[in-house]
Amino acid sequence: MKILAIETSCDDTSVAVVENGNHVLSSIVSSQIDLHSKYGGVVPEVAARAHIQNIIPALEEALDEAKTKITNINFIAVTKGPGLIGSLIVGVNTARVIALLNKKPLVSLHHTEGHIYANWLEKSGKNCPKFPLICLTVSGGHTNIIYMRKHLDYHIIGKTLDDSAGEAFDKVAKMLGLDYPGGPIISSCAMTGNEKAYHFPRVDLTQKPIRNNDGFMEESVESLDFSFSGLKTAVLREVRILEATNSLSKNKINDIAASFQVCANDILVRNTIRAARNYGIKTVLLSGGVAANEQLREMLAAAISKLDNVDFYFPASKFCTDNAAMIGAAAYQRILINDFSDPLKLIPDSGLKLIYAS
Ligand code: KG4
Ligand code: ZN
Repeated sequence: MKILAIETSCDDTSVAVVENGNHVLSSIVSSQIDLHSKYGGVVPEVAARAHIQNIIPALEEALDEAKTKITNINFIAVTKGPGLIGSLIVGVNTARVIALLNKKPLVSLHHTEGHIYANWLEKSGKNCPKFPLICLTVSGGHTNIIYMRKHLDYHIIGKTLDDSAGEAFDKVAKMLGLDYPGGPIISSCAMTGNEKAYHFPRVDLTQKPIRNNDGFMEESVESLDFSFSGLKTAVLREVRILEATNSLSKNKINDIAASFQVCANDILVRNTIRAARNYGIKTVLLSGGVAANEQLREMLAAAISKLDNVDFYFPASKFCTDNAAMIGAAAYQRILINDFSDPLKLIPDSGLKLIYAS
């Protein structure tokens, strides 16, 4: 079964051909980083225009690389949301037209489903993740811990109350005068920095002050939620002090990058391990752009190895950041339960919620 998948929710124009939900025949990602980096972030109108220019060439390239033709494709899959509405419109309308003209069934998906199912790419049988599981999804748009008892069964058990982890990486990079996207640059600066140079706060919402009627603190409740805004402000304070004394040197930038990175990763690992212990799972998955972070993978692997009988999976780096192959992997599961969209009626939803499919 060949699925042609399209993903245009943010600033990457991606088209892929995926066989049987796991084997990637082609994966084209036309990046717009050069267009957006001079603005220090994604400009929605610029992204939508670039998708219009890039989508047909990406489509042709994906079919060529897969050595196939549209007539040999069985299903069309597309990201319905969430994301930038102008960007989503380009992908959704392209998918609708291809499905209608070629009389192919159309599947529409939540972007995060794609990130989760990137963990099934290039795996089969016993090598696939086992349920129940939790998935730490860390991207530019989301930071969630998702509990799944079976395929397409999503329960968000932890979420960020402010910035996403990816946003924190991007914003700290901007404060340090580094390029966009910040994640890969912060991690390369961190390689030569001292992670103990600064101790930034590991915000734990468990210690949230709750007062009873008498004004006293109640017992704290263990939380799986995240907050990165305090960490970001703490970094900004250090940067301002260094700038005021003209001492924000390359070495100091590397030290701040390393201290910030280990702090953000500590927070992500702490809540993931807490969730793994509380939910009696067999597998921990990592997904989303920040999952490409080497230190996060290593720290999670080390912490999970101390749990009894819990496996750990993360996708290849090229399938962590936005790509269409992951959309093909998730679409396969929806095809198995006959969950299709009407190509005459499908519209994108920039605020789409992740809900259980059936
Ligand atoms: O999943 P993604 O490609 O797009 C969204 O769905 O948002 O994630 C992009 C985010 C950006 O914030 C980027 O800085 C971050 O992933 N990222 C990283 C790394 N590579 C990408 N963050 C930390 N370390 C990395 N190596
Ligand atoms: Zn994404």
